[in-house]
Amino acid sequence: MTPIRKIGIIGSGQMGNGIAHVIALAGYDVVLTDLTKEKVDKAIELIDRNLTRQVASGKITEEDRKQALSRITYAENYQGLSDADLVIEAATEDETVKRKIFVALCPFLKPEAIVATNTSSISITRLAAATDRPERFIGLHFMNPVPVMELVEMIRGIATEDVTFAKAREFVGTLGKTTAVSEDFPAFMVNRILLPMINEAVYTLYEGVGSVDAIDTAMRLGAHHPMGPLQLADFIGLDTCLSIMQVLYEGLADSKYRPCPLLVKYVEAGWLGRKTKRGFYDYRGEKPMPTR
Ligand code: CAA
Repeated sequence: MTPIRKIGIIGSGQMGNGIAHVIALAGYDVVLTDLTKEKVDKAIELIDRNLTRQVASGKITEEDRKQALSRITYAENYQGLSDADLVIEAATEDETVKRKIFVALCPFLKPEAIVATNTSSISITRLAAATDRPERFIGLHFMNPVPVMELVEMIRGIATEDVTFAKAREFVGTLGKTTAVSEDFPAFMVNRILLPMINEAVYTLYEGVGSVDAIDTAMRLGAHHPMGPLQLADFIGLDTCLSIMQVLYEGLADSKYRPCPLLVKYVEAGWLGRKTKRGFYDYRGEKPMPTR
């Protein structure tokens, strides 16, 4: 098995920048690419801020921070990923977008390179079919915030070879993360369980059972969740939450996964949570304020 040394990451958003952060900190070279250089520059600034937080709390040293940052470079196009041993796609949670990326990416890759997707819900087997290497394709689902959360869900497609799985699992271990293996079913394990809970919280709000504050307080203090479900929805992104519910609803054809109309309305309004500064909370002031 050729060792994994260099990792390409497609998408520098919420997940892509966190993945780049932990991989660079683990000593690998990272090449980050996105639609524009501005997006990657912003991501690197954010990585620096998050590394600085870890230095401040004594989790890493200042030298670790500098080294990690020096290992992250920018690629303008997929040609820049041609010597990567592993490429992780962390673009928008949209099947069409992801498929287009794989079709464009594969001709530039080394034949032995592994391609992984950070999809949180879409079929790995279907995405693999858009590549020239379904046997070297795998789902590696990191959790947000990546530098803090210990888990990576691993999902094999129908054609994923044992050697690809073994190599990916070993790699994830070197990042200090623990793996949980899921079969390739809609939304895998974490989101199959987490998202219906969040969707139910939105129904609870929609039906007037409780206010945003009451629902979140109930689950934070009543179930010891670190964040209330509506706060967590804003953190994940309401567009992503809706996409995952749609994948569950369509993929499992069960009405229990019907996305709450209020969630749809927030997404239609462009109130996507923290990233747009408004969702179930308004983040434009000093303190997040419930929007209903
Ligand atoms: N990078 C580095 N460090 C970070 C960080 C980041 N992005 N975000 C938080 N931290 C660190 C903080 O610096 C802090 O470190 P110290 O304890 O050493 O000081 C620690 O994490 C805790 O952070 P805070 O004190 O700021 O806040 P908190 O105690 O409220 O914790 C949280 C924040 C870790 C996010 C916590 O609220 C939490 O665990 N929330 C739930 C997150 C969750 O459920 N994630 C899964 C989402 S689902 C998913 O990701 C799957 C999907 O596909 C949708």
